[in-house]
This record gives sequence, structure tokens and C-alpha cells, in this order.
Amino acid sequence: MLYLLFHIYIHHVFSLLICISHCCVISENKGTRTSGVNFDTLGSWNNRLALPILYEQSIITGKLIPRVPLDEIGLTSVIGRRRDNEDRCVVEELSSELLYFGIFDGHCGSLAAEYVSDHLIDHLSFWLTKTSDLKSVLRNSFCDVHNLLARHLLYYHIDDDNFKTGTTATVCLLRNSTELVVGHVGDSIAILCRDGQPLRLSVDHVPEDCEESVRIIQNGGEIIHNSLGVAHVNGRLAMTRSLGDVELKSFGVSAYPYLRTIEVKHGSDAYLVMSSDGLSHAISDQEIVNVVTSCQTPQEACSRLADQAQHFGSEDNVTVVVIPLGAWGKYQKLDTNYSFNFGRVLSNSKFY
Ligand SMILES: *[C@@H]1O[C@H](CO)[C@@H](O)[C@H](O)[C@H]1NC(C)=O
Ligand SMILES: *[C@@H]1O[C@H](CO)[C@@H](O)[C@H](O)[C@H]1NC(C)=O
Ligand SMILES: *[C@@H]1O[C@H](CO)[C@@H](O)[C@H](O)[C@H]1NC(C)=O
Repeated sequence: MLYLLFHIYIHHVFSLLICISHCCVISENKGTRTSGVNFDTLGSWNNRLALPILYEQSIITGKLIPRVPLDEIGLTSVIGRRRDNEDRCVVEELSSELLYFGIFDGHCGSLAAEYVSDHLIDHLSFWLTKTSDLKSVLRNSFCDVHNLLARHLLYYHIDDDNFKTGTTATVCLLRNSTELVVGHVGDSIAILCRDGQPLRLSVDHVPEDCEESVRIIQNGGEIIHNSLGVAHVNGRLAMTRSLGDVELKSFGVSAYPYLRTIEVKHGSDAYLVMSSDGLSHAISDQEIVNVVTSCQTPQEACSRLADQAQHFGSEDNVTVVVIPLGAWGKYQKLDTNYSFNFGRVLSNSKFY
């Protein structure tokens, strides 16, 4: 009861705060619904998904900051047309202020992907006790988990096929719902929907990238195109950074992640999509955003994305995570009948 009273009290004080700041600083809302300015628009994230408010953080920053609830996050992993439990994605709360999302897409067996998805969290937790700089936490953790994986492979699998195993890793850390830090190796993807448009947060580490291929060649590696014209490092690996792939590390296939920090603006950022390349090979970033934007819930969005990828001929396993942010539902056009299953929208397609 006391707790409830306290809650109501806080809510009251909080509403007052918002009201005061809005009445004084910004002109009164006369119903023109200027995007991002008036209270109605800010409140839009409360309509379709009930994202709870992160009170302390909102008071500190003077803006409404929602808490990203783990149980609202959509997650789907599909093998062929069958659904399967063996996924390689992680959604965890590392502490009350830090969320961790990871996608790991393995090759040459799933050993590396499993190892990294199981153990990366321990390294993150360790480095978080040493520094609050999330970029260093990610860089050190990627390096550590790779080294331990390499040791594990050398010790247990040097004579079997598992020795060649490797994995991509795309990891997002979200601190206090506002500071988003991406650490990434390989060709999985992370996309932020900002102002209704896709914003790619990851870069593909592929031999087609000039800087990447220069590093490979300087280290004595070779870029060899297969019969389909796809470039592979030493004719074996279609990416230039990964965790695992021990025998390619001396040829410049690095485990050091690409790192990026971005501030989440909950007034205009609707969601974060992370997925394995099975999705990005099948449909473009714009199509991904079109599909997710037309869905009611993150889980529905995940299922539709996986269906779309399969529909457009992805043979690959597809794993998708959709994380709702403040502007979830804001760019949804209720009057559009987007057809999911009858064909691609050619004007938005990268193959057009
Ligand atoms: C996150 O928020 C808490 C309070 O909710 C605050 O004490 C902490 O300093 C914040 N962390 C950062 C890195 O801003
Ligand atoms: C999909 O996952 C299954 C089980 O992990 C694996 O056997 C199969 O090789 C994977 N397929 C592709 C195309 O990666
Ligand atoms: C969407 O579909 C409904 C029913 O199928 C139809 O009544 C409506 O006019 C369509 N809207 C648009 C914008 O095409």
C-alpha cells in the first residue's frame, strides 16, 4: 500500500515536472501536433506498447525515457521452414541499468556460435567491473572470448572438423535506455529505425570492403572469388572479421570489433532490429523497416521478417531480434495495406 502511494506520488510529481517544463519552455499544445514537440506526440509510445517510464532517468535528463522491458522484445530463430530452439541470440539484463543483446551466426558448425553466446556475458560482466567505458568493455570482451575459444578449439578439437568453426558477433549494449553501444564482427546486422528510416549501425566485414581486403592482403591472405563471384578469404571465409576461425587469424581475419556509440532519441527512434545475414541477404534495410513498422508488436515483427526472408528464398538460418524503443508505433501508417506474402515491393528493393 505504502509502495503504491509512493508510486502515485512520484507519478504526480513527475507529471507536474513534465508539465512545468513543457508549459514554460515550449509553447502550449494547441493541437497542431508538431512532431516531437508537444505532449501528445511524446505520449505516443504509451499507446500501442505500454513501455514503462524510467523515472529517475527521465528526471535527470528532463525527457521522457521509457524502460525497455525484456518481455516486450521480439525474438525468432528459424531453420529452413521449421522453427527450432537452438538459437544464437542473447537478450539479457546485465544490471538494472544495462541491457545486452547479441546475435551470433556460426559457420562450419555451431560450436563457435554456441561458445560465444554462452561465454561472452561473463567477459562483459568482468570488464564492467573494471571500466564504465562500454567501448573498451566490448573490445576487451570480444578479444577475451576469442582467445578462450581458440584455446578451447586447440585443446579439444585440433583433429576434427570443429577446428574450422567461427562465428559473427553483433552485440548491442543499452545503458539507461539512452546510450547504445554496438560492437560487431562479421556480416550480421543491426539497424535502428530513426524517423521512420533505417539507420545501419553495423558495417559488413567482407572482402569487398577496400580497407578490410587491404589488411588481409598485407597479412599474406588471399582474396579468392568462388564460382558465384563471392569473395572469400583464402577461398574459405566470406568475411574478414570473426570470432574463431583460428587458422585464418594470422592472415588478418581479426577478432577486434567495429565499435559505435549512438544516443537513443526516444521521440524519433522506434526500434532496433538485429539479425543474421539470412535476413539481410533476402531483403533490404528499407523493406525490413517497412515490415516492422506495419506490425503491432515486436514479436509479430520478428515472425513476419523471418517469413519474408524465407519467402524470398533465403536458404540460410534466420535469427531476428526486434527491440522496441520510445517511438514504437509512431510511423505506423494505419491506412496502408502492406501485403506480406504476395510479392516484394519492387520500388523499395535493392534488386530493383
Ligand atoms: C544510469 O542511471 C542511474 C540512475 O538511474 C545513474 O545513477 C547512473 O549514473 C546512470 N549511468 C550513466 C552511465 O549515466
Ligand atoms: C542451420 O542450422 C542447423 C542447426 O544448427 C545447421 O545444421 C545448418 O547447417 C544451418 N544451415 C545453414 C545454411 O547455416
Ligand atoms: C485496405 O483494405 C481494406 C479491406 O481489405 C479496404 O477496405 C481499404 O480500403 C484498404 N485500404 C487501402 C488504403 O487500400
